[in-house]
Amino acid sequence: MDYGESGPRKGKAMDQLVIHENAALAIVEGVVAKIGSHVEAAEWTAKTRVDCEGKLVTPGLIDPHTHLVFGGSREHEMSLKQKGVPYLEILKQGGGILSTVKATRNASEEELYQKSTFHLTRMLAFGVTTVEAKSGYGLEKETELKQLRVANKLNDNHPVDLVSTFLGAHAVPEEYKNNPEKFLDVMESLLDEIKSENLAQFVDIFCETGVFSIEQSRHFLKKAKAKGFHVKIHADEIDPLGGAELAAELDAISAEHLVGTSEEGIKKLADAKVIACLLPGTCFYLGKSSYAKARKMIEEGVAVTLATDFNPGSCPTENLQLIMTFAAIQLKMTAKEIWNAVTVNAAHAIGLGDERGIIAPLKQADLVLWNATNYEYIPYHFGVNHVQTVIKKGEIVYE
Ligand code: NIG
Ligand code: FE
Repeated sequence: MDYGESGPRKGKAMDQLVIHENAALAIVEGVVAKIGSHVEAAEWTAKTRVDCEGKLVTPGLIDPHTHLVFGGSREHEMSLKQKGVPYLEILKQGGGILSTVKATRNASEEELYQKSTFHLTRMLAFGVTTVEAKSGYGLEKETELKQLRVANKLNDNHPVDLVSTFLGAHAVPEEYKNNPEKFLDVMESLLDEIKSENLAQFVDIFCETGVFSIEQSRHFLKKAKAKGFHVKIHADEIDPLGGAELAAELDAISAEHLVGTSEEGIKKLADAKVIACLLPGTCFYLGKSSYAKARKMIEEGVAVTLATDFNPGSCPTENLQLIMTFAAIQLKMTAKEIWNAVTVNAAHAIGLGDERGIIAPLKQADLVLWNATNYEYIPYHFGVNHVQTVIKKGEIVYE
């Protein structure tokens, strides 16, 4: 399957896929060289052949929103959640994100590297070939840079490619609890070093009640833009503060969550061509009854992508296939929309739309061969792994 010409898919185009039946692919030096029929392919010379008979082949999945690098875990919060203690209340009491901050500060760089390798390898096994990873569990210079270095080292050493996002503005740490502005100044002071060492390509902020306000988010992200970063926003995840409108105003590359976004906010995202990154696994795991209005977004011409939001608190899963099922059941997205969301649109949401996310000549040969005969089967049959083989830059990296 490929998606024709380049650009994120929006509106009705999200419901279109190009499907090649009985097709064959040639890969040269890590990129797709040609697509033909299996009859033509009998004439092609090749060092390695992979038999795909009767199987679905798609672009490698792309997970454009994860909090991959962190210390510890938070299973002890489950009973609090069951008692009805809200996510933001756990955070206010010094738990939640702040409990992961303690564990991440206490972990060595090597420990974080080993732990993140484990999670990333699991993502690969689920068919994910490119991942965005955010910092945000340091909330101080040393640990934020440690997280970013781990993500960069993984990008160098692991078969999965990573892009990095600086999310130093993820929560207000205990030491600055009475002075969030001062804390944002400290995070802002890291931007030059992060830029000069190319430790992150994007800057993000958690714009939420009790975390960072619209005004604080605007101020911080404007500074990041002025330093040459593309920006993302955790927007309207729990309370509808107007994060989508801010994303549009700042020309963000993507806005994330958008559960409480108003119709006006959706229109603004469409006009400003901000990609909506929806995270239905998080709504599921926080036991929410309402989900982002994906149908409305698509109707208004917004390009939608989907991600796991993999993190130790609000969505501990590496399984993007499961998110595809949530998108079908809870967001009412069609199978075609879902496939566009986790491939081509995900690539655009992390600035890599020109080189990956579709199967076409000259695109990176990141492919998944599935234990399925058709694309509708993957969101349909849920909770198991359908991957047979993962190919990264033309090489088999998982089978
Ligand atoms: O996207 N909302 C903020 N950040 C994460 C959760 C992080 C955590 O709970 O550790 C999210 O849901
Ligand atoms: Fe997140």
